[in-house]
Amino acid sequence: MNEKIIAWRNSMGILSIMADRCPHRGVALSSGKLSSDRIQCPFHGFQYASYGSCVLVPANGKSSEPPKALHVKTYPVREANGFVYIWWGEARHEYPPVPWFESIPDTMVYSTLRDHWATHYSRAIENQLDVMHLPFVHYNTIGRGNRTLVNGPLATEESHWVGDHLINLWVANEIDDGQKPKKPSEMTKPDRHPFLQFRFGNIWQNWISDNIRIVVAFAPIDNENMLMYLRFYHTMRFPGLRQIVGWFGSLSNLVIERQDRRVVITQRPYRSDLNIGEILAQGDGPIVLYRRIRKGLIDGKV
Ligand code: FES
Ligand SMILES: [Fe+2]
Repeated sequence: MNEKIIAWRNSMGILSIMADRCPHRGVALSSGKLSSDRIQCPFHGFQYASYGSCVLVPANGKSSEPPKALHVKTYPVREANGFVYIWWGEARHEYPPVPWFESIPDTMVYSTLRDHWATHYSRAIENQLDVMHLPFVHYNTIGRGNRTLVNGPLATEESHWVGDHLINLWVANEIDDGQKPKKPSEMTKPDRHPFLQFRFGNIWQNWISDNIRIVVAFAPIDNENMLMYLRFYHTMRFPGLRQIVGWFGSLSNLVIERQDRRVVITQRPYRSDLNIGEILAQGDGPIVLYRRIRKGLIDGKV
């Protein structure tokens, strides 16, 4: 989100996320040090508590109260599902549930892979909702079989709490034998769990089977950079085997993800939106849906 932040834990394990900028003279706190549960600025040694307030100005002496204005911006934070969630909007009394997929049972284990993409996070998300790219970008992996004709796709929208937006997506690509592709309105909902799911703001699930899922979290950095967190979930719990399965799963994910990255980082503009002058096709329906909801959320309208 174009902002430098610092994350640190105090001795009680309490996680603090704050702006990486000392309010005194603008130095990066991340180059300072931790000292008795406070973060100490490397420049003049001002100390800040995990809630952001300055608790010591050494030059003024231990017996002086630091000015209230010396306060670092902190972000509400929650830890769940092996991720750190940061609340970006204005402070609230109560926060909504963290976005997750309840359909992933606690009995599953996972391995995570992290990869940097030189693009805006919205482009990386759209790519995961793009069913037309499969036979081209992934012609020798998950898109094998030359199924270039895109029926629908069928995409539905769900909401489970205020501000929740979940997109369900079923892929119905076929080999082109001269038939016309079905319109999204002609698609009937299959009797199976959606193949792909995206939950705003930034998590995605690929339901491979009841025992195998792929989850991606798209972490924004700035307008031209993001991080992909790729999780491979499975049920093999035996030590040794668990690592091997995780390793193979992650490796094949990486191969597929790199096929995407090579192409997606060339898209311009970096940041996707409605009305950026792209000429879309019928199969781009889920991308339009994503853009519409995202714009609505940014404008505070949905
Ligand atoms: S800039 Fe941080 S203490 Fe002066
Ligand atoms: Fe892809």
